[in-house]
Amino acid sequence: MNDLQQRMETHIGRLSEFTATPGNGTTRLTYSKEDLQARLYIKEKMQEYGLQVREDGIGNIFGRLEGTLTGAPSVLIGSHFDSVPNGGSYDGPAGVVAGLEVAALFKENNLTPKYPLEVIALVEEEGARFEGGLMGSRGITGVLNEEDFKNLTDKDGIKTIEAMAEIGLDSSLPKKRDPKTMKAYLELHIEQGPILEGKGIPIGLVKAIVGLVQLEVTVEGKAGHAGTMPMEHRSDALVAAAKMIARLPELALNEGEGSVITTGRLNVFPNGSNVIPNKVVFTVDLRSGKEEHILSMIENVKELVDSYNDSGIKTSVAHQLYMAPKAMDSDIISLLKEKCSELDVPYCSLNSGAGHDAMVFSDVTAAAMLFIPSRDGVSHCPEEWSDSKDIATAVQILFEAAKALTEAE
Ligand code: GLV
Ligand code: MN
Ligand code: MN
Repeated sequence: MNDLQQRMETHIGRLSEFTATPGNGTTRLTYSKEDLQARLYIKEKMQEYGLQVREDGIGNIFGRLEGTLTGAPSVLIGSHFDSVPNGGSYDGPAGVVAGLEVAALFKENNLTPKYPLEVIALVEEEGARFEGGLMGSRGITGVLNEEDFKNLTDKDGIKTIEAMAEIGLDSSLPKKRDPKTMKAYLELHIEQGPILEGKGIPIGLVKAIVGLVQLEVTVEGKAGHAGTMPMEHRSDALVAAAKMIARLPELALNEGEGSVITTGRLNVFPNGSNVIPNKVVFTVDLRSGKEEHILSMIENVKELVDSYNDSGIKTSVAHQLYMAPKAMDSDIISLLKEKCSELDVPYCSLNSGAGHDAMVFSDVTAAAMLFIPSRDGVSHCPEEWSDSKDIATAVQILFEAAKALTEAE
């Protein structure tokens, strides 16, 4: 194992210790104690690698290597460091530590770039605490405005700014960043699917990222005693919600072309075993590579939910996130291909079925992504694993690409 690979193992190993569910995967919610521990580790490494460290008003972390051109835009490299509940050690952190090690290679080689290089570690990509997801990048690009950011609450009613204050973050710092300060955004990520492993290829170059939408459905019925209320007199919110959810897969299958729909969260109120539920709130995550399918699935979900409205049941649908499918920057893809060939690294092109911060950055700057294989294609679970050798290979490619991008006009 070479030094670079060893450092990857150390970073990933250390970050994986910062979990609220030790022994059962990584649970690192944004602005939690584990967020603070991971944040301190990332900032310490940034300092050690000679970067100027700062945080913004959402808690995103930036480590900057100044360039020689005054006022020039930065080449950003990184990913997110939050996780889903009981997730793995690689989704997000692999890209953050890759960014750190690209900066370490600049330092080791005594390189001062023309354009600044910024390692970036983003918050709340998963939306596991505040819903919606992609919060760090949406804040930087202004897609999420100050007002909407402040109004976000977690499941316990804690506001973003209160949670930030709890771990000593300053929410009054600037959030939105002028697009003119960004030259490019590069992100390494695990594939989270089986394609690269199946082909035995270490690097995937992402052509496009699927469009994704998150809806929240609320179903209201009437509470009552589970023993005394006759069946025909009930307005059971959970029974109505279950019928809706059971029909969602067919909406995706009818749409075709790889369209998918998932309900991943369902909250039942009051959640007592002998109480008829009076309210259910559940999420609908829908995705497709084609925007026309996204739009048609949204309409179909709304129609389905609406059809359960009757005298006893009231339903509503709220939009939490809408992201159209996004193509990655063709010039940077060509550059990455060139660097793979020079380094003799096999690669292939693929699309991403997962959402990524790169899709948000792609609206304001040239964005591109590299994937590495995921063992058994699994992710968002404790079994998630990728080879540190592949991360090290990706770092070499990113280093070469970052050198080119921080030099060229
Ligand atoms: C992020 O992992 C997403 O695709 O939801
Ligand atoms: Mn994820
Ligand atoms: Mn991710």
